[in-house]
Amino acid sequence: MLTLADVQRNPYINTFIQRSKEALSFYHYTDHGFDHVNLVAKRAKELAKKIGLSNVEQELCAIAGFCHDMGNFIDRIDHEYWGALLFFEVFKNKMPPKDLGLVMQAIANHDNYKAKVLSPISAVLILADKSDVRRSRVIIKNKKLIQTDIHNRVNFAVTNNKFKADPKKKRITLQLEIDTDFVPVMEYFEIFTQRMVQCRRAAKFLDYKFGLIINNFKLL
Ligand SMILES: [Fe+2]
Ligand SMILES: [Fe+2]
Repeated sequence: MLTLADVQRNPYINTFIQRSKEALSFYHYTDHGFDHVNLVAKRAKELAKKIGLSNVEQELCAIAGFCHDMGNFIDRIDHEYWGALLFFEVFKNKMPPKDLGLVMQAIANHDNYKAKVLSPISAVLILADKSDVRRSRVIIKNKKLIQTDIHNRVNFAVTNNKFKADPKKKRITLQLEIDTDFVPVMEYFEIFTQRMVQCRRAAKFLDYKFGLIINNFKLL
């Protein structure tokens, strides 16, 4: 079976992620490179394990997490589809077709808010990806420049991020600390409402509730 470690060693995948990181930093986007995809892969695998998915599914979640943003170097628009097709091209002879299809579908769905969540792999990837909001994702250092873009502003304001799943309470929780001197909590919602709705849908697919706590206020 193909493992996350195999995928992390693949020169094509590494090149696609590196190119994507460079392409998006050119536009002053938040980090979509190795820090982000390694964190998403780790979070996806931990979540998959915690909610009782099989060993194979845990590995598929981790692989999807590592590869989900690698289509960005072709184009930010539709990067989820580019990523899924690139994944097929690289691994078509190295994975069972069923597993390949599941990872492709999860990659393609991670940024498509209109699509239904159709597998636990997709659900886990959405939760692991959309919960990655943190100060260290902001690449640009100039504070004035950070202020001019809402994504950078909101990520910069997040000083602490905890993500956990409680299988007994059937609850997946994202707990954030936001520096409200930097952005008001409302701004977080301005750009993250859609993502949080998607997290709720993904959690629901897994038969869980999604909770959001900001500065100790329970918002969801
Ligand atoms: Fe993405
Ligand atoms: Fe991502």
